[in-house]
Amino acid sequence: VYPSDRYEADPTQERIKRFPTAIVIGARKGGTRAVLRFVDLHPDVVTSKREPHFFDREYEQGLEWYRHQMPPSLPSQITLEKTPNYLVDWDVPKRVYTFNSSIKLILIVREPISRAVSDYVQLREAFYKQMEYDEERALKNGRLERLPDFEDLAIDPSTGEVDKSYAPVKRSLYSRHLERWLAFFNMSQILILDGDNIRYRPWEEMAKVEKFLGLSHQVKQNCFVFNETKGFFCVKVVDHKKGNGATVQKCLSESKGRVHPHIDPEVRSKLRDFYRPFNKRFFYKVGRTFDWD
Ligand code: A3P
Repeated sequence: VYPSDRYEADPTQERIKRFPTAIVIGARKGGTRAVLRFVDLHPDVVTSKREPHFFDREYEQGLEWYRHQMPPSLPSQITLEKTPNYLVDWDVPKRVYTFNSSIKLILIVREPISRAVSDYVQLREAFYKQMEYDEERALKNGRLERLPDFEDLAIDPSTGEVDKSYAPVKRSLYSRHLERWLAFFNMSQILILDGDNIRYRPWEEMAKVEKFLGLSHQVKQNCFVFNETKGFFCVKVVDHKKGNGATVQKCLSESKGRVHPHIDPEVRSKLRDFYRPFNKRFFYKVGRTFDWD
């Protein structure tokens, strides 16, 4: 069976919405959409298309609401969701534990500075989108606001040091966030993925996901094609319209793989020094190292 080919509907098996057995908890900009999209190629997996934000924003809606956010699945399939904000929200680990203490968690980390810049670039885009809506008002006030450069936000002007309260900087403090999860969960329940490797050798990270979830090995190298225009791997899926086993390339949306601004080397160096002890602590907790220096 070609991995992306879903099982044909079996009338004896009922497709119903089920709770996830694994959750991708972050990190934001780590490559979370890519992982969910790639694991979705597996015939025994279904994934929620939107981020449900149940444990952080919609908790009051109750568990049935949560289940309803999931796509229907067969009894043989497992359900996955991703909400990267779970990683950094204070209430979430306890709530997830209360929901299912043996749930599997997937955390994708990426070199902390590029993750922070990626986070900034996303916020910048949202900022200017918002500005467009408010342009009339802004013009009336006699000014069109401009978002400061990353460097000016990541460094506190009064001290010249890294501003660790700036959200994109803070969200790359993986050890801090992981520690809150480890108050409830065992490391054996948490799979750590390398977000940088997802970009360059996604099939290697997919093999880890399959093993962790107890799935057969299906999402292999031949499922991916490098798209020169996008500069990223895309996936091959069966083109049901064309038939005859024809395949079509599916890439992630344009918002994935944005151009990053050039970062002042001095600021970069300050950030590297700043993250080093946190990274070390993270490596110790997860029992492996990453080439982030
Ligand atoms: P950039 O936009 O900074 O390049 P998330 O889905 O968690 O928001 O992560 C987005 C990041 O996924 C992108 O960050 C991009 O680098 C990374 N990524 C990894 N593999 C990708 C792929 N095949 N296509 C697009 N983006 C990918």
